[in-house]
Amino acid sequence: MQKVINSMVVHTQGNKNNQPIVFVHGFPFDNSMWHNQINFLKDNFYCVSYDIRGLGESYVGDGQYTMEAFVDDLFSIITELNLNKPVLCGLSMGGYIALRATEKYEQKLSGLILLDTKADSDDDDGKLVRANKINQINVEGLDSFVDSFVPGLFCDETKTENVKLYESTIAKCKQNNPIGVKGALIAMLSRTSTINYLSRIKLPVLVITGAFDKLTPPVQMRELADKIKNSEFAIAPRAGHLIPLENPGFVNDMIKGFLENI
Ligand code: MLT
Repeated sequence: MQKVINSMVVHTQGNKNNQPIVFVHGFPFDNSMWHNQINFLKDNFYCVSYDIRGLGESYVGDGQYTMEAFVDDLFSIITELNLNKPVLCGLSMGGYIALRATEKYEQKLSGLILLDTKADSDDDDGKLVRANKINQINVEGLDSFVDSFVPGLFCDETKTENVKLYESTIAKCKQNNPIGVKGALIAMLSRTSTINYLSRIKLPVLVITGAFDKLTPPVQMRELADKIKNSEFAIAPRAGHLIPLENPGFVNDMIKGFLENI
């Protein structure tokens, strides 16, 4: 079922009485990146996904977003759908949102799944890279930015062996509104770190990364998992930064096993 909540497009699948799981996508993607996971889990879990403000089909507005506003948006969906202690599953930027949401309201959640993400904020070099990306969108347009950024998120094997997925993902990113894409870049650039909270997380946490993820490589993700007491860590083979799309079978099995034991 699709509905609009707080000007965001939200999709729900499955039986509302089952354990809810809320999927938070990465940048610059939309809810469809979870399509394989939701198809696999919907018979046993209540699956909620949405387009983050400014991306996909959600409202773009003026593009003045912050990570805090993204967290408020997430909880507006949880409240409106009356979800009882959902599990949050976030990839990359979705993980930044899920970690900040956990820091703010851990007692309202029952588990956390972090895919290809990090807890630290951008350092100065990282901020300059974001500023350049915003400039690139202004000067050269969104397509040029997407062509220079998104291909590097896939591993080589996906690019050669799953050309359809590779090309359709890039084409979809180009359908975003440039104002929303720049707004998400500003929200990431201005976010603060959640690193000090990691050791205080009591929830069960599943951490998965792609073996060939260049943005959040396995060594970095293992360090993140090591800081969380009740965490499980896994590396998805044959995948870069976009593991739910590149190796859905591995991710599905890991998530299902985790959810069945919390
Ligand atoms: C993402 O995949 O969400 C982004 O690449 C994260 C980032 O740029 O920091």
